Amino acid sequence: MPLTRRDFLRGLGAGGAALAARPALGARGLEAARGLDLPRDTPIPAIRLDSNENPNGPAPAAIEAIKRSLGEASRYPDNPEDLLREALAKAHGVAPEWVLLGCGSTEILRVAVMAFGSADRPLVTAAPTFEEPVRIARTLGVPVKEIPVDRAMGLDLDAMARAAAPGAGIIFVCNPNNPTATVHGARAIDDFVVAVRRSAPKAVILLDEAYHEYVEDPSYASAIPMLKNDARVMVARTFSKVHGLAGIRAGYAIAQPETIAAMRPYRLPSGISAAAGAAAVATLNAPAHTREEQRKNRETKAFTRAFFEGLGYTVGPSETNFIMADIRRDSRAFKAACLTDGVAIGRQFPPFLTHARISIGTMDEMRRATRVFRKHLASA
Ligand SMILES: Cc1ncc(COP(=O)(O)O)c(C=O)c1O
Repeated sequence: MPLTRRDFLRGLGAGGAALAARPALGARGLEAARGLDLPRDTPIPAIRLDSNENPNGPAPAAIEAIKRSLGEASRYPDNPEDLLREALAKAHGVAPEWVLLGCGSTEILRVAVMAFGSADRPLVTAAPTFEEPVRIARTLGVPVKEIPVDRAMGLDLDAMARAAAPGAGIIFVCNPNNPTATVHGARAIDDFVVAVRRSAPKAVILLDEAYHEYVEDPSYASAIPMLKNDARVMVARTFSKVHGLAGIRAGYAIAQPETIAAMRPYRLPSGISAAAGAAAVATLNAPAHTREEQRKNRETKAFTRAFFEGLGYTVGPSETNFIMADIRRDSRAFKAACLTDGVAIGRQFPPFLTHARISIGTMDEMRRATRVFRKHLASA
Protein backbone atom coordinates (compact mmCIF):
# COMPACT_ATOMS: atom_id res chain seq x y z
CA MET A 1 0.00 0.00 0.00
CA PRO A 2 1.43 3.46 -0.79
CA LEU A 3 2.73 5.44 2.15
CA THR A 4 0.94 8.70 2.84
CA ARG A 5 2.84 11.72 4.07
CA ARG A 6 1.20 11.22 7.45
CA ASP A 7 2.46 7.59 7.57
CA PHE A 8 5.90 8.85 6.69
CA LEU A 9 5.94 11.42 9.49
CA ARG A 10 4.57 8.86 11.94
CA GLY A 11 7.33 6.51 10.84
CA LEU A 12 9.87 9.12 11.86
CA GLY A 13 8.57 9.06 15.46
CA ALA A 14 8.58 12.08 17.74
CA GLY A 15 10.64 14.10 15.26
CA GLY A 16 7.79 13.79 12.79
CA ALA A 17 5.55 16.12 14.77
CA ALA A 18 8.19 18.83 14.71
CA LEU A 19 8.67 18.31 10.99
CA ALA A 20 4.96 18.66 10.44
CA ALA A 21 4.77 21.97 12.36
CA ARG A 22 4.12 24.82 9.94
CA PRO A 23 6.67 27.61 10.19
CA ALA A 24 5.82 31.21 9.45
CA LEU A 25 6.15 32.50 5.93
CA GLY A 26 8.45 35.41 6.68
CA ALA A 27 10.81 33.24 8.68
CA ARG A 28 11.61 31.09 5.63
CA GLY A 29 12.22 33.70 2.98
CA LEU A 30 9.76 31.64 0.96
CA GLU A 31 9.37 32.51 -2.71
CA ALA A 32 5.77 33.41 -1.78
CA ALA A 33 6.89 36.23 0.50
CA ARG A 34 9.64 37.71 -1.66
CA GLY A 35 9.14 41.36 -2.45
CA LEU A 36 5.88 41.61 -0.52
CA ASP A 37 5.44 43.52 2.70
CA LEU A 38 3.98 40.72 4.82
CA PRO A 39 4.07 40.37 8.60
CA ARG A 40 6.76 37.85 9.60
CA ASP A 41 4.20 35.67 11.34
CA THR A 42 2.03 35.23 8.24
CA PRO A 43 1.47 31.46 8.11
CA ILE A 44 2.68 29.42 5.18
CA PRO A 45 -0.22 29.36 2.71
CA ALA A 46 -2.38 26.25 2.64
CA ILE A 47 -2.07 26.03 -1.16
CA ARG A 48 1.43 26.58 -2.52
CA LEU A 49 1.48 27.31 -6.22
CA ASP A 50 4.62 29.46 -6.16
CA SER A 51 7.67 27.25 -6.65
CA ASN A 52 6.79 24.74 -9.40
CA GLU A 53 7.02 21.77 -7.05
CA ASN A 54 5.25 18.45 -7.45
CA PRO A 55 2.21 18.75 -5.15
CA ASN A 56 1.82 14.97 -4.86
CA GLY A 57 5.16 14.38 -3.16
CA PRO A 58 7.75 11.73 -4.00
CA ALA A 59 7.13 8.21 -5.30
CA PRO A 60 6.23 5.76 -2.49
CA ALA A 61 9.41 3.85 -3.39
CA ALA A 62 11.44 7.03 -2.81
CA ILE A 63 9.84 7.55 0.61
CA GLU A 64 10.66 3.94 1.52
CA ALA A 65 14.25 4.49 0.34
CA ILE A 66 14.56 7.64 2.46
CA LYS A 67 13.36 5.75 5.52
CA ARG A 68 15.84 2.96 4.90
CA SER A 69 18.67 5.47 4.37
CA LEU A 70 18.19 6.86 7.87
CA GLY A 71 19.94 3.75 9.20
CA GLU A 72 23.07 5.08 7.42
CA ALA A 73 22.60 8.64 8.65
CA SER A 74 25.83 8.58 10.67
CA ARG A 75 27.93 7.70 7.58
CA TYR A 76 29.27 10.06 4.92
CA PRO A 77 27.32 9.47 1.73
CA ASP A 78 30.11 8.18 -0.57
CA ASN A 79 28.26 5.00 -1.38
CA PRO A 80 24.86 6.62 -2.06
CA GLU A 81 26.60 9.16 -4.32
CA ASP A 82 28.39 6.42 -6.26
CA LEU A 83 25.18 4.46 -6.66
CA LEU A 84 23.27 7.51 -7.92
CA ARG A 85 26.01 8.48 -10.35
CA GLU A 86 26.08 4.94 -11.72
CA ALA A 87 22.29 4.83 -12.04
CA LEU A 88 22.24 8.16 -13.89
CA ALA A 89 25.10 7.14 -16.18
CA LYS A 90 23.20 3.98 -17.09
CA ALA A 91 19.96 5.89 -17.65
CA HIS A 92 21.68 8.31 -20.04
CA GLY A 93 23.99 5.86 -21.79
CA VAL A 94 27.25 7.44 -20.58
CA ALA A 95 30.05 6.52 -18.16
CA PRO A 96 29.89 7.78 -14.52
CA GLU A 97 32.67 10.33 -15.28
CA TRP A 98 30.11 12.19 -17.41
CA VAL A 99 27.88 12.87 -14.38
CA LEU A 100 28.29 15.56 -11.72
CA LEU A 101 25.89 15.45 -8.77
CA GLY A 102 24.65 18.61 -7.12
CA CYS A 103 22.66 19.68 -4.09
CA GLY A 104 19.74 20.31 -6.43
CA SER A 105 20.46 21.56 -9.93
CA THR A 106 20.94 24.98 -8.31
CA GLU A 107 24.39 23.79 -7.24
CA ILE A 108 25.11 22.66 -10.80
CA LEU A 109 24.20 26.11 -12.19
CA ARG A 110 26.42 27.76 -9.59
CA VAL A 111 29.48 25.59 -10.18
CA ALA A 112 29.10 25.96 -13.95
CA VAL A 113 29.29 29.76 -13.67
CA MET A 114 32.22 29.45 -11.23
CA ALA A 115 34.11 27.16 -13.61
CA PHE A 116 33.40 28.87 -16.94
CA GLY A 117 32.65 32.53 -16.14
CA SER A 118 35.22 35.15 -15.14
CA ALA A 119 35.73 38.91 -15.27
CA ASP A 120 36.59 38.66 -18.98
CA ARG A 121 34.28 35.73 -19.84
CA PRO A 122 30.69 36.93 -19.39
CA LEU A 123 27.54 34.97 -18.72
CA VAL A 124 24.90 35.27 -21.46
CA THR A 125 21.37 34.54 -20.31
CA ALA A 126 17.75 35.42 -21.00
CA ALA A 127 15.36 37.72 -19.13
CA PRO A 128 13.22 36.62 -17.51
CA THR A 129 14.65 33.17 -16.88
CA PHE A 130 15.75 31.13 -13.86
CA GLU A 131 17.88 33.57 -11.91
CA GLU A 132 20.51 31.46 -10.16
CA PRO A 133 23.24 31.84 -12.81
CA VAL A 134 22.84 35.64 -12.71
CA ARG A 135 22.86 35.67 -8.92
CA ILE A 136 26.15 33.78 -8.63
CA ALA A 137 27.70 35.68 -11.57
CA ARG A 138 26.99 39.01 -9.86
CA THR A 139 28.43 37.68 -6.59
CA LEU A 140 31.62 36.64 -8.38
CA GLY A 141 31.96 39.76 -10.54
CA VAL A 142 31.27 37.87 -13.77
CA PRO A 143 29.69 40.31 -16.28
CA VAL A 144 26.13 39.40 -17.27
CA LYS A 145 24.44 39.95 -20.64
CA GLU A 146 20.69 39.48 -20.29
CA ILE A 147 18.74 39.10 -23.54
CA PRO A 148 15.00 39.80 -23.27
CA VAL A 149 12.67 37.00 -24.33
CA ASP A 150 10.76 37.68 -27.54
CA ARG A 151 7.14 38.74 -27.93
CA ALA A 152 5.96 35.14 -27.78
CA MET A 153 7.88 34.78 -24.50
CA GLY A 154 10.36 32.39 -26.12
CA LEU A 155 14.12 32.76 -25.71
CA ASP A 156 15.61 35.02 -28.37
CA LEU A 157 18.19 32.44 -29.39
CA ASP A 158 19.57 34.47 -32.32
CA ALA A 159 20.20 37.48 -30.10
CA MET A 160 21.72 35.25 -27.42
CA ALA A 161 24.12 33.71 -29.96
CA ARG A 162 25.10 37.21 -31.16
CA ALA A 163 25.56 38.42 -27.58
CA ALA A 164 27.98 35.56 -26.95
CA ALA A 165 30.53 37.13 -29.32
CA PRO A 166 33.39 37.61 -28.85
CA GLY A 167 34.25 35.90 -25.60
CA ALA A 168 31.30 34.57 -23.58
CA GLY A 169 32.33 32.07 -20.92
CA ILE A 170 28.94 30.46 -20.44
CA ILE A 171 25.51 30.71 -22.02
CA PHE A 172 22.49 29.70 -19.95
CA VAL A 173 19.59 28.28 -21.95
CA CYS A 174 16.60 27.27 -19.86
CA ASN A 175 14.54 24.90 -22.01
CA PRO A 176 11.66 24.87 -21.19
CA ASN A 177 12.07 28.33 -19.73
CA ASN A 178 11.05 29.26 -16.20
CA PRO A 179 9.02 31.49 -15.79
CA THR A 180 7.60 31.74 -19.32
CA ALA A 181 6.86 27.97 -19.74
CA THR A 182 7.92 28.11 -23.42
CA VAL A 183 10.03 25.46 -25.11
CA HIS A 184 12.35 25.36 -28.14
CA GLY A 185 12.45 22.40 -30.49
CA ALA A 186 15.52 20.30 -31.21
CA ARG A 187 16.12 22.02 -34.54
CA ALA A 188 16.19 25.49 -32.96
CA ILE A 189 18.64 24.33 -30.30
CA ASP A 190 20.87 22.67 -32.95
CA ASP A 191 20.91 25.88 -35.00
CA PHE A 192 21.68 27.88 -31.86
CA VAL A 193 24.67 25.69 -30.99
CA VAL A 194 25.99 26.05 -34.56
CA ALA A 195 25.58 29.85 -34.35
CA VAL A 196 27.39 29.99 -30.99
CA ARG A 197 30.24 27.89 -32.33
CA ARG A 198 30.71 30.66 -34.91
CA SER A 199 30.29 33.63 -32.55
CA ALA A 200 31.99 32.24 -29.45
CA PRO A 201 33.74 28.92 -30.15
CA LYS A 202 34.97 28.46 -26.58
CA ALA A 203 31.73 29.25 -24.75
CA VAL A 204 30.09 26.52 -22.69
CA ILE A 205 26.38 26.15 -23.41
CA LEU A 206 24.44 25.09 -20.32
CA LEU A 207 20.99 23.76 -21.14
CA ASP A 208 18.80 23.61 -18.06
CA GLU A 209 16.22 20.86 -18.59
CA ALA A 210 14.57 21.04 -15.14
CA TYR A 211 11.11 20.61 -16.71
CA HIS A 212 12.14 18.04 -19.34
CA GLU A 213 9.67 15.36 -18.18
CA TYR A 214 6.69 17.69 -18.61
CA VAL A 215 7.34 18.58 -22.26
CA GLU A 216 4.81 17.28 -24.77
CA ASP A 217 5.77 19.36 -27.83
CA PRO A 218 6.98 16.72 -30.32
CA SER A 219 9.56 19.10 -31.80
CA TYR A 220 11.45 19.14 -28.48
CA ALA A 221 14.30 16.76 -27.62
CA SER A 222 16.79 16.69 -24.79
CA ALA A 223 20.24 18.08 -25.67
CA ILE A 224 21.94 15.08 -24.03
CA PRO A 225 22.70 13.38 -27.40
CA MET A 226 24.36 16.63 -28.57
CA LEU A 227 26.80 16.80 -25.72
CA LYS A 228 28.17 13.41 -26.70
CA ASN A 229 29.77 15.15 -29.72
CA ASP A 230 30.45 18.55 -28.18
CA ALA A 231 32.53 19.00 -25.03
CA ARG A 232 31.15 22.50 -24.56
CA VAL A 233 27.50 21.51 -24.28
CA MET A 234 26.19 20.58 -20.85
CA VAL A 235 22.74 19.60 -19.57
CA ALA A 236 21.44 20.18 -16.03
CA ARG A 237 18.56 18.12 -14.63
CA THR A 238 16.81 17.93 -11.27
CA PHE A 239 14.83 15.58 -9.04
CA SER A 240 12.87 18.56 -7.68
CA LYS A 241 10.13 18.76 -10.29
CA VAL A 242 8.27 15.72 -11.65
CA HIS A 243 10.09 13.46 -9.15
CA GLY A 244 8.79 15.45 -6.18
CA LEU A 245 12.07 15.62 -4.24
CA ALA A 246 12.60 19.40 -3.98
CA GLY A 247 13.01 19.21 -0.20
CA ILE A 248 15.49 16.36 -0.39
CA ARG A 249 17.82 18.13 -2.88
CA ALA A 250 19.32 16.25 -5.79
CA GLY A 251 20.30 17.44 -9.23
CA TYR A 252 23.01 16.67 -11.75
CA ALA A 253 24.91 17.70 -14.84
CA ILE A 254 25.74 15.53 -17.83
CA ALA A 255 28.73 16.58 -19.94
CA GLN A 256 31.96 15.20 -21.31
CA PRO A 257 34.47 14.18 -18.62
CA GLU A 258 36.82 17.16 -19.21
CA THR A 259 33.89 19.56 -18.69
CA ILE A 260 32.75 17.73 -15.56
CA ALA A 261 36.34 17.71 -14.27
CA ALA A 262 36.56 21.50 -14.69
CA MET A 263 33.48 21.94 -12.48
CA ARG A 264 34.19 19.31 -9.83
CA PRO A 265 36.59 21.40 -7.69
CA TYR A 266 33.79 23.92 -7.07
CA ARG A 267 31.32 21.31 -5.88
CA LEU A 268 30.35 20.92 -2.24
CA PRO A 269 31.92 17.60 -1.18
CA SER A 270 29.22 15.12 -0.07
CA GLY A 271 26.58 17.55 -1.31
CA ILE A 272 24.14 14.69 -1.88
CA SER A 273 22.85 13.31 1.41
CA ALA A 274 22.37 9.58 1.92
CA ALA A 275 18.61 10.18 1.83
CA ALA A 276 18.78 12.17 -1.42
CA GLY A 277 20.96 9.57 -3.12
CA ALA A 278 18.68 6.73 -2.10
CA ALA A 279 15.49 8.58 -3.02
CA ALA A 280 16.82 9.60 -6.42
CA VAL A 281 17.87 6.04 -7.32
CA ALA A 282 14.46 4.72 -6.21
CA THR A 283 12.74 7.36 -8.37
CA LEU A 284 14.77 6.41 -11.44
CA ASN A 285 13.49 2.88 -10.91
CA ALA A 286 9.85 3.99 -10.74
CA PRO A 287 9.04 5.14 -14.30
CA ALA A 288 5.37 4.19 -13.96
CA HIS A 289 5.07 6.68 -11.11
CA THR A 290 6.67 9.39 -13.24
CA ARG A 291 4.17 8.72 -16.03
CA GLU A 292 1.34 9.02 -13.54
CA GLU A 293 2.69 12.38 -12.36
CA GLN A 294 2.88 13.57 -15.97
CA ARG A 295 -0.76 12.57 -16.48
CA LYS A 296 -1.92 14.35 -13.33
CA ASN A 297 -0.06 17.50 -14.33
CA ARG A 298 -1.51 17.41 -17.86
CA GLU A 299 -5.09 17.07 -16.58
CA THR A 300 -4.83 19.63 -13.83
CA LYS A 301 -3.04 22.09 -16.09
CA ALA A 302 -5.86 21.76 -18.65
CA PHE A 303 -8.41 22.44 -15.89
CA THR A 304 -6.49 25.52 -14.74
CA ARG A 305 -6.04 26.83 -18.28
CA ALA A 306 -9.76 26.34 -18.99
CA PHE A 307 -10.59 28.33 -15.85
CA PHE A 308 -8.62 31.40 -16.97
CA GLU A 309 -9.61 31.12 -20.62
CA GLY A 310 -13.26 30.71 -19.59
CA LEU A 311 -13.02 34.11 -17.91
CA GLY A 312 -11.52 35.63 -21.07
CA TYR A 313 -7.86 35.72 -19.99
CA THR A 314 -4.98 34.57 -22.17
CA VAL A 315 -2.75 31.74 -21.05
CA GLY A 316 0.50 31.19 -22.96
CA PRO A 317 1.62 27.75 -24.15
CA SER A 318 3.04 25.71 -21.28
CA GLU A 319 5.40 22.75 -21.50
CA THR A 320 5.96 22.68 -17.75
CA ASN A 321 4.12 22.27 -14.43
CA PHE A 322 3.14 25.95 -14.32
CA ILE A 323 1.34 28.46 -16.50
CA MET A 324 1.65 32.16 -17.21
CA ALA A 325 -1.80 33.77 -17.28
CA ASP A 326 -2.29 37.36 -18.39
CA ILE A 327 -4.74 38.60 -15.76
CA ARG A 328 -4.69 42.16 -17.16
CA ARG A 329 -3.96 43.73 -13.78
CA ASP A 330 -0.92 44.12 -11.53
CA SER A 331 0.09 40.54 -10.75
CA ARG A 332 1.94 41.65 -7.61
CA ALA A 333 -1.25 43.00 -6.04
CA PHE A 334 -3.13 39.89 -7.20
CA LYS A 335 -0.55 37.67 -5.56
CA ALA A 336 -0.78 39.59 -2.28
CA ALA A 337 -4.60 39.36 -2.39
CA CYS A 338 -4.50 35.58 -2.99
CA LEU A 339 -2.08 35.17 -0.07
CA THR A 340 -4.64 36.66 2.28
CA ASP A 341 -6.84 33.71 1.30
CA GLY A 342 -4.08 31.15 1.83
CA VAL A 343 -3.06 30.69 -1.81
CA ALA A 344 0.53 31.43 -2.87
CA ILE A 345 1.33 32.01 -6.54
CA GLY A 346 4.62 32.94 -8.22
CA ARG A 347 6.11 36.39 -7.97
CA GLN A 348 5.85 39.02 -10.67
CA PHE A 349 8.40 38.67 -13.48
CA PRO A 350 9.14 42.00 -15.17
CA PRO A 351 8.51 43.08 -17.87
CA PHE A 352 5.35 40.93 -17.67
CA LEU A 353 3.65 43.01 -15.02
CA THR A 354 0.16 41.64 -15.68
CA HIS A 355 1.13 37.97 -15.85
CA ALA A 356 0.66 35.58 -12.96
CA ARG A 357 2.89 32.49 -12.82
CA ILE A 358 0.83 29.74 -11.29
CA SER A 359 2.27 26.31 -10.46
CA ILE A 360 -0.03 23.36 -10.98
CA GLY A 361 -1.15 21.85 -7.67
CA THR A 362 -3.37 18.82 -7.11
CA MET A 363 -6.81 18.88 -8.74
CA ASP A 364 -8.35 19.50 -5.34
CA GLU A 365 -5.96 22.40 -4.69
CA MET A 366 -6.69 23.92 -8.09
CA ARG A 367 -10.44 23.67 -7.53
CA ARG A 368 -10.04 25.57 -4.26
CA ALA A 369 -7.43 28.00 -5.64
CA THR A 370 -9.55 28.91 -8.67
CA ARG A 371 -12.36 29.94 -6.29
CA VAL A 372 -9.89 32.35 -4.68
CA PHE A 373 -8.67 33.54 -8.10
CA ARG A 374 -12.27 34.10 -9.24
CA LYS A 375 -12.97 36.20 -6.14
CA HIS A 376 -9.95 38.45 -6.66
CA LEU A 377 -10.36 38.70 -10.42
CA ALA A 378 -13.94 39.85 -9.88
CA SER A 379 -12.81 42.83 -7.81
CA ALA A 380 -11.80 45.53 -10.33
C1 LIG B 1 14.67 26.13 -14.54
C2 LIG B 1 15.08 25.72 -13.17
N1 LIG B 1 16.32 25.27 -12.97
C3 LIG B 1 16.74 24.89 -11.77
C4 LIG B 1 15.90 24.95 -10.68
C5 LIG B 1 16.46 24.57 -9.36
O1 LIG B 1 15.98 23.40 -8.89
P1 LIG B 1 16.70 22.53 -7.81
O2 LIG B 1 17.87 23.26 -7.25
O3 LIG B 1 15.67 22.26 -6.79
O4 LIG B 1 17.13 21.31 -8.55
C6 LIG B 1 14.59 25.42 -10.82
C7 LIG B 1 13.69 25.53 -9.67
O5 LIG B 1 12.62 26.06 -9.71
C8 LIG B 1 14.17 25.82 -12.12
O6 LIG B 1 12.95 26.30 -12.34
